[in-house]
Amino acid sequence: MRLEDQVALVTGAGSGIGKAIALRFAECGARVAVNDLDDETAAATVDAIESRGGMAMAVPADVSDGRAALKMFTRFLGTWDRLDIVVNNAGALFLEPHVVANMEAQLAERASGAVSTPLAATTSLEDGIWRRTFAIHVDGTFHCTREALKVMEVRRRGRIINMSSIAGLAGLAGVPDYSAAKAAVLGFTKSVAREVAHLGIQVNAIAPGFVDTPMLADLPDTLRAAFVAQTPSGRLATAEEVAGAALYLASPEAEAVTGQVLSPNGGSLM
Ligand SMILES: NC(=O)c1ccc[n+]([C@@H]2O[C@H](COP(=O)([O-])OP(=O)(O)OC[C@H]3O[C@@H](n4cnc5c(N)ncnc54)[C@H](O)[C@@H]3O)[C@@H](O)[C@H]2O)c1
Repeated sequence: MRLEDQVALVTGAGSGIGKAIALRFAECGARVAVNDLDDETAAATVDAIESRGGMAMAVPADVSDGRAALKMFTRFLGTWDRLDIVVNNAGALFLEPHVVANMEAQLAERASGAVSTPLAATTSLEDGIWRRTFAIHVDGTFHCTREALKVMEVRRRGRIINMSSIAGLAGLAGVPDYSAAKAAVLGFTKSVAREVAHLGIQVNAIAPGFVDTPMLADLPDTLRAAFVAQTPSGRLATAEEVAGAALYLASPEAEAVTGQVLSPNGGSLM
């Protein structure tokens, strides 16, 4: 019960990594506000927590919308009047079909030596996708951090955990929008960590390698195999393993850890 009596908000907790974090935190005694864009998946995570004896509340909202984020905070603070941990996890990866096809073509070419097919990921990237990617990952993280700090600064304690990616650490070819947004999340994390360290608030990021979640479910087998081949552990990480990293950063053991990036990536050099 390492998180006993604490209240956590996990965004994007209707699926994948966010759901695993919400379940893990609840198992450790936290009451969890379960956010997602999708009301039904948020409610399903709440049901899963409650069926295991935990406490949770669904707070569906689009975190990219600052007013919706504010309403969400008002709603669960009105019920629980407490906030100890926020995990800014909501995310989306817009991988265009022609880019996937070009990635597959490049893989086949690499096997024979010379890669000549352009990925055409940046040249074909539409403004709307670029902006939506930033809105979800960067604006969403900013909106929820801003509201969380209003509570945490008064209480002089709190943990904020932002989900980045190895794409943000190294730059993943084919997803320039996602890589840039995840790098922005890292810069934001480090700045805010230094801003609020003297108030007893820790702000850290997790930058996972490839994780077996619905986000990667539609990838062709060839690309999945290529991601596995790039990972020294020889497999994708599980959502539960990333939840373990989040639990560490939320736990009393991480009291002195702030402005850091923890990368559960199976030994990847990316
Ligand atoms: N799967 C991976 O390989 C991997 C690797 C590194 C980082 N990540 C990051 O981990 C996080 C979780 O990804 P996942 O793999 O669990 O994906 P997922 O698709 O399973 O879950 C993402 C969840 O976020 C929700 N969401 C999307 N936009 C939202 C918004 N505007 N407001 C609220 N909720 C929103 C979705 O509805 C979904 O339930 C993301 O930030 C992702 O970028 C994933």
